[in-house]
Amino acid sequence: MKAIFVKKAGGPEVLECREVEQPTPGDQELLVRVRAATVTRGDVALRSMPRAILVPVGLLFGFKPMEIPGVEFAGEVVAVGGKVGRYQVGDLVFGTTTGLARGANAEYVCVPETSRLGVLAKKPEGLSFAEAAALPVGAMTARFLLVRAGLKSGDRVLVHGASGSVGACAVQLAVLAGAEVTGVCSAGNTALVRSLGASRVIDYATEDVTAGPGGFDLVFDAAGKLSRRRCRAIMAPGGRYTGVRSPTSERLEDLAFVTDLAAAGKFKVLIDRSFPLTEVAEAHRYVEAGHKRGNVGILLD
Ligand SMILES: NC(=O)c1ccc[n+]([C@@H]2O[C@H](COP(=O)([O-])OP(=O)(O)OC[C@H]3O[C@@H](n4cnc5c(N)ncnc54)[C@H](OP(=O)(O)O)[C@@H]3O)[C@@H](O)[C@H]2O)c1
Repeated sequence: MKAIFVKKAGGPEVLECREVEQPTPGDQELLVRVRAATVTRGDVALRSMPRAILVPVGLLFGFKPMEIPGVEFAGEVVAVGGKVGRYQVGDLVFGTTTGLARGANAEYVCVPETSRLGVLAKKPEGLSFAEAAALPVGAMTARFLLVRAGLKSGDRVLVHGASGSVGACAVQLAVLAGAEVTGVCSAGNTALVRSLGASRVIDYATEDVTAGPGGFDLVFDAAGKLSRRRCRAIMAPGGRYTGVRSPTSERLEDLAFVTDLAAAGKFKVLIDRSFPLTEVAEAHRYVEAGHKRGNVGILLD
């Protein structure tokens, strides 16, 4: 099969499209023919992290150094191990390869039926392969952090980095929960963030959001550029702060919550651009610039 291989830590040029052996599923694994995958900011960070750091960090958190990138995928089950119970050949599935050495920027991927780190679910009919692949990381991260920060109806919420993968999900989930949302992004993304339900949009290039006016019950830093200390002045008394620098875990309940909304047409999965498998390095360059609108897809036949 064709797969993207990481030769060594470095820039996008270390990614090479190669012929590699198609994996065989173990007893509790599924073999999925990948129809869509993505390139996330996490893929970019893992690609550039030196092995001397990646290996000990991986040992600590239980993930293997990545040989084939691609955390998110959607596709069709083409083989199942003998002990797989909930899936069969022909099922359409989506999820993440978190913790595995061989990810989904490949024609086939082997994933466990249940994983301590990643998620797997049946793809709803209402979502395309591209949408299903682009949903898990942004949606689970946004919901995990919003729930933990105690989001409630009527909250005045600031989402910093509102046009990115995590931020666009956070804006929509907060609006659906009955919050009044202010989004922060560059001027070119104002209309997009408004279309997601934000009632006000601030351009970070012309306005310092930490200088006020404030009164936010919840500040969500989806860009990883703020800090609780810098935001104190714009937080209402008793206001909460959360952001993407906090550790999160992938929870099936968060995935199911957002998937149901998306399948019902109440939540938009944003796909900025899509690339073929052979152009994953180009996709990494685009994602690494830090200005994608939502997600970047990798489409396979
Ligand atoms: N904790 C976790 O589990 C977790 C999970 C996923 C991601 N992350 C991290 O979360 C961050 C965001 O990920 P993502 O995929 O959502 O990123 P992304 O899609 O690249 O979006 C980045 C967002 O930040 C905005 N932005 C760029 N430069 C900015 C600046 N100088 N000031 C303010 N905003 C700026 C962008 O707006 P414009 O494009 O309009 O400039 C965009 O809205 C990354 O650091 C990623 O590693 C963490």
